[in-house]
Amino acid sequence: MRIDILSVVPGLLESPFAHSILKRAREKGKAEVYIHNIRDWASNKHKTVDDAPYGGGAGMVMMVEPVVACMEELRSRRQYDEIIYMSPDGELLDQPMANHYSLMSNLLVLCGHYKGIDERIREHFITREISIGNYVLSGGELAAAVFCDAVIRLLPGVLNDETSALSDSFQDDLLAPPVYTRPAEFRGWKVPDILLSGNTPEVEKWRHEKALERTREKRPELLKKH
Ligand code: ADE
Repeated sequence: MRIDILSVVPGLLESPFAHSILKRAREKGKAEVYIHNIRDWASNKHKTVDDAPYGGGAGMVMMVEPVVACMEELRSRRQYDEIIYMSPDGELLDQPMANHYSLMSNLLVLCGHYKGIDERIREHFITREISIGNYVLSGGELAAAVFCDAVIRLLPGVLNDETSALSDSFQDDLLAPPVYTRPAEFRGWKVPDILLSGNTPEVEKWRHEKALERTREKRPELLKKH
């Protein structure tokens, strides 16, 4: 999978892709992530990428020309499955959406900044808007990093244990059950006996019951689907 991310603050995106699972996914060639600085496509000598809104009002708007120049250059080299704009106006990201995008080959992700992007970019280029929650971030970069993480970790061969993405919280609309590791007892706090029993079917049954119990307690709305 290839993801091209367009940003006016590319530095914000460096760290999330330089560590842990996303780093490994890139090194293994499972995910290619390219971060483009929109400013490189600005045509004026000051490399301006934002301007005041027509009609007045506070804040600046991301200009249409540099964004379109960047998108058209990228689009001339390959076909994108989706051109995504990270925005609080978008559809809320959830696990089925992450699963859906993990099957794609080429994604282009635009991060907004300032007061937003010139509406003509949305009308003529954006095929989907995605939000990571009902709150406003200073820009789309952190949201893009969240989106890419949720998608890339699902690509085959990215996680060491192939089944571990399938047993995540939300893959079956249930939260994950509690997990423990050594020592079996710490300050008198014991790991449940069943997990030390070696009885795999009973362990699985216990995990499912705990997942249900936890979901009922913390996120009862998820159980409506069951
Ligand atoms: N940009 C600013 N806020 C955002 C949000 N909540 N989700 C996605 N992109 C955003």
